[in-house]
Parts: sequence; C-alpha cells; structure tokens
Amino acid sequence: MTYVVTDNCIGCKYTDCVEVCPVDCFYEGENFLVIHPDECIDCGVCEPECPADAIVADTEGGSEAWVELNRKYANLWPNIITQKDPLPEAEERDGEEGKLEKYFSEAPGEGG
Ligand code: SF4
Ligand code: F3S
Repeated sequence: MTYVVTDNCIGCKYTDCVEVCPVDCFYEGENFLVIHPDECIDCGVCEPECPADAIVADTEGGSEAWVELNRKYANLWPNIITQKDPLPEAEERDGEEGKLEKYFSEAPGEGG
C-alpha cells in the first residue's frame, strides 16, 4: 500500500506534506508533487497535513492511474524535504476541476 498525490495539488503545491514524511519520499515537479509508491511506508501522516486534501491512500477507488503517475515522476523529479511557499496561484486553483488536463507540467521542480 501507498499514499499518492492527486489532482488538487496541481497549481497549488502547498508543500506542508514534505515536512512530516519520515522517509522523505516526496519528489517535486514544477507545479505538482508526487510520492514514490515504493518508498512510502503507508504511515498516513501526510494525508491530513495537505490544505488541498490532495493526498489519498491507494485503497481509494480510482487511484490506480495516480499511483502510476506518482511512480513515473518520482523517478524523474528531484527529492523535496523542506517546505517552501505555495505557488502564487494556489488559492485561485484550489478546488478547480480537471487540473491534470489543464495545468500539469512534466518539468521538474527545484527540489530541496
Ligand atoms: Fe511519507 Fe507516510 Fe505520507 Fe507515505 S504516508 S508519503 S511515508 S508521510
Ligand atoms: Fe501538494 Fe498538498 Fe503537498 S497541495 S505539495 S500534496 S501539501
């Protein structure tokens, strides 16, 4: 089992989640974070920390595609363990539908 980051992180990237992960398994894209499903120990600590409610357990229905997307980009993007400012448009984007199609960027973030 693993937790994964889903749609509502895109364009927000609050990063509260990275501070609490005991195994530092978050990876940073330009406008999204992912969890490495093979490194996550399924502790659940990050899930309530996300202001955008973007983190879910893979036992939730419909999460299969998110697990694969998290795995793919965790292998491409840099590790992030330190909280940083949310994206400037975070409040505006929070809760918007269809962010994967509209805004997702494959570009890596800076990590850190
Ligand atoms: Fe890290 Fe635990 Fe969240 Fe997995 S569930 S990403 S180990 S804080
Ligand atoms: Fe994204 Fe929530 Fe973390 S918005 S960066 S999953 S705190």
